[in-house]
Amino acid sequence: MGVCGYLFLPWKCLVVVSLRLLFLVPTGVPVRSGDATFPKAMDNVTVRQGESATLRCTIDDRVTRVAWLNRSTILYAGNDKWSIDPRVIILVNTPTQYSIMIQNVDVYDEGPYTCSVQTDNHPKTSRVHLIVQVPPQIMNISSDITVNEGSSVTLLCLAIGRPEPTVTWRHLSVKEGQGFVSEDEYLEISDIKRDQSGEYECSALNDVAAPDVRKVKITVNYPPYISKAKNTGVSVGQKGILSCEASAVPMAEFQWFKEDTRLATGLGGVRIENKGHISTLTFFNVSEKDYGNYTCVATNKLGNTNASITLYEISPSSAVAGPGAVIDGVNSASRALACLWLSGTLFAHFLIKF
Ligand SMILES: *[C@@H]1O[C@H](CO)[C@@H](O)[C@H](O)[C@H]1NC(C)=O
Ligand SMILES: *[C@@H]1O[C@H](CO)[C@@H](O)[C@H](O)[C@H]1NC(C)=O
Ligand SMILES: *[C@@H]1O[C@H](CO)[C@@H](O)[C@H](O)[C@H]1NC(C)=O
Ligand SMILES: *[C@@H]1O[C@H](CO)[C@@H](O)[C@H](O)[C@H]1NC(C)=O
Ligand SMILES: *[C@@H]1O[C@H](CO)[C@@H](O)[C@H](O)[C@H]1NC(C)=O
Ligand SMILES: *[C@@H]1O[C@H](CO)[C@@H](O)[C@H](O)[C@H]1NC(C)=O
Repeated sequence: MGVCGYLFLPWKCLVVVSLRLLFLVPTGVPVRSGDATFPKAMDNVTVRQGESATLRCTIDDRVTRVAWLNRSTILYAGNDKWSIDPRVIILVNTPTQYSIMIQNVDVYDEGPYTCSVQTDNHPKTSRVHLIVQVPPQIMNISSDITVNEGSSVTLLCLAIGRPEPTVTWRHLSVKEGQGFVSEDEYLEISDIKRDQSGEYECSALNDVAAPDVRKVKITVNYPPYISKAKNTGVSVGQKGILSCEASAVPMAEFQWFKEDTRLATGLGGVRIENKGHISTLTFFNVSEKDYGNYTCVATNKLGNTNASITLYEISPSSAVAGPGAVIDGVNSASRALACLWLSGTLFAHFLIKF
C-alpha cells in the first residue's frame, strides 16, 4: 500500500495491485516504471480506428514471467488470456519477444499499455501509448437556406475526428483564394447582401485522411430593380419591340401599362413575352396611336419597381432611304461600266465588219 500512496497516477497504483495478483511484484517492492533499457517496448503505437494494433515487447531468456496490461487490467499473462475482449489475441511468446494484437481498434482503446516482466525476481515494466486516429467526418451541417437581404444567417458545421479536425468555411462563388469566410464551425453573416448568396463549403481537416467537405447553399431574396429599359424608335407600319430587364430573387413578374391601362397579349395587336429576367412588348404593326410612354412594372414578393419606356416615331425615309441610296449608287456605277464595255465591243464589231 505504501507504494500506491506515493504514486501520482491512480492507474499506476492499480497496475501494481494487478501485478501483485500475478505474483510479478512481491508486496512492498516498488515498481520501476518506464525502464529505458529493459524490458524494451516499442515507441508509441499510432493506428487508425478499425485497424489492428500490435503491442510488442522485447525480452530475453532471463525473463520468467510476462504480461501485457491495459491500464490496470491484465490482458495476457504469458499464454493465458485474462481479457474477455475477443479482439485481443496473442501474437508471439518466445524467449525474445512477447507481443499481443488488438484488432478493430476503437477510440476507447487509446491509452497506456504496460509490458510487465519478471527477471531474476525483479519486476520491471515498460509502457507504450496506443494512439487512435479517426479521419475527419462532418456529423451535422446546416441545410440550404433562403433569407431576405439584410437578415442574419448562421451556418453550422460540426465535425469529429482524432486529432480534432480544423473546420473552415469558404464562399465558393467568389474568386479563388478570397473565399475564406470563417475558420470556425460557425459561419455568421449579419446584414447579408445579395452578392453573398451562393454555395458555401465546409471543410473538416486533420492529418489522418483527406478532408471531409460538404456544401450549403444560401439564397438571398431581394426586391426587383430594372437594369435595362431603352427607348425605341419605329416608323409606322413596322414591327416594334420594347424590352425591360429586371434583376430580382425570386424572379420578377412583369406587367406593362400605357397610362393607366394594363396591356395584354392579343389586345391592340401586341404580344407580351417573359423570358427569365427580360420582358418584351411587341407591336406587330405600329400605328400613330401606339407612340408614347409605356411603363414596365417588375414585381416579386419583396416589392416592385417600374420604368418608363418611350416608343417614338422615326420617319420611314430615314430608316429605308439611307442604305437604299448606297445600293442605288453601286448599281448605277456598275451599270455605267457595263455600258462602256458594251459600246466598246459594239465599236470593235463595227470595225471588223468593214
Ligand atoms: C507517447 O504518448 C504519450 C501520451 O500521448 C506522450 O506523453 C509521450 O511523450 C509519447 N512518447 C513518445 C516517445 O512519443
Ligand atoms: C482498455 O481499457 C479501456 C478503459 O477501461 C477500455 O475501454 C478498452 O476497451 C480497453 N481496451 C482493450 C483492448 O482492452
Ligand atoms: C445538429 O445541430 C443542431 C444545432 O446544434 C441540432 O439542433 C440538431 O439536432 C443537430 N442534428 C443532428 C442530426 O445531430
Ligand atoms: C398595318 O396597318 C395598316 C393600317 O391599319 C395596314 O394598312 C397594313 O396593311 C398593316 N400592315 C401589315 C403588315 O399588317
Ligand atoms: C414620356 O416620358 C418622358 C420622360 O419620362 C416625359 O418627358 C414625357 O413628357 C412623357 N410623354 C408623355 C406623352 O407622357
Ligand atoms: C411607378 O413607381 C412610382 C414610384 O415608385 C409609383 O408612384 C407609381 O405608382 C408606379 N407606377 C406603376 C404603374 O406601378
